[in-house]
Amino acid sequence: MNSEAKLKILLNRQEIEATVKRLAAEISQDYAGKQPLLIGILKGSFVFIADLIRLLDFPLEVEFINLSSYGAGKESSGRVRVVQGLRAKVRGRHVLVIEDIVDTGLTIAYLLEYLKKRKPASLKLCALTDKPSRREVPVGIDYPGFTVPDKFIFGYGIDWNEKYRYLPDICYLEDG
Ligand code: IMP
Ligand code: MG
Repeated sequence: MNSEAKLKILLNRQEIEATVKRLAAEISQDYAGKQPLLIGILKGSFVFIADLIRLLDFPLEVEFINLSSYGAGKESSGRVRVVQGLRAKVRGRHVLVIEDIVDTGLTIAYLLEYLKKRKPASLKLCALTDKPSRREVPVGIDYPGFTVPDKFIFGYGIDWNEKYRYLPDICYLEDG
């Protein structure tokens, strides 16, 4: 890290809370009575999904899936692998995928295809943050949180080399 770099807040906890409330209201309207299966992508979405589900007051189930990109550290190849799969059956379920960041879109595009093959009754995506300037494959986000600039962000569950997930705000580093 550049010693001159400063930790800056991009999205503070109050803004995040308001957006999670807004998303929960939209999801409630569309899914109440449908017993949806919410699938959180590990690890980055765990704080977001924890806050989100506590604002939903109807029956739902939660699952997690762990994905890994081949050649981590190199450029995104789009070759994604399911490291830890799902226990719940997807067939016939109303599935809502919960993601922290849609960046190039390669990870989520792969996961949506993977789930589609399992014939859910419906399949939608909620993403807390979206970096459209980095997109390589088109991805429709049904429940978008924030549009963010092309900066590396962390906090609120999102890591930077496994660190900083604990920060309550979403931050970035600004060179001094
Ligand atoms: P994509 O396949 O390029 O869309 O990558 C999506 C995944 O990359 C996200 O789920 C994050 O885990 C990770 N990622 C992308 N941008 C950032 C960032 O700014 N901070 C931390 N992780 C990121
Ligand atoms: Mg992720």
